[in-house]
Amino acid sequence: MTGCSRRRDEGMGIRALLLCDPHNPLGRCYPRDTIIASMRLCSKYGIHLLSDELYAMLIYDVSNKDAVPFTSALFFDGSEYIQKTICMCFMA
Ligand SMILES: Cc1ncc(COP(=O)(O)O)c(C=O)c1O
Repeated sequence: MTGCSRRRDEGMGIRALLLCDPHNPLGRCYPRDTIIASMRLCSKYGIHLLSDELYAMLIYDVSNKDAVPFTSALFFDGSEYIQKTICMCFMA
């Protein structure tokens, strides 16, 4: 049993998964596979994916060939993975 389903059975359902992408303060970005896996997980449990992309324009090591490039959650065709993606890009 996963933590998500256990909490639901306890009557304290989880409503969303929050991704902070790029990560603050490290500036690392999630690989596309991780974002898609997060969407599928959210779809499985019928919860929202909140993608906090506030720092999308402040990515470190863009010249590092090993660095994962930033990909917005909005880049993906949501209908293929999930119905409830909310992308947040705003001023702090
Ligand atoms: C990842 C991330 N999203 C959003 C915010 C904005 O939060 P707040 O408006 O509460 O300052 C911050 C602030 O540091 C942040 O690090």
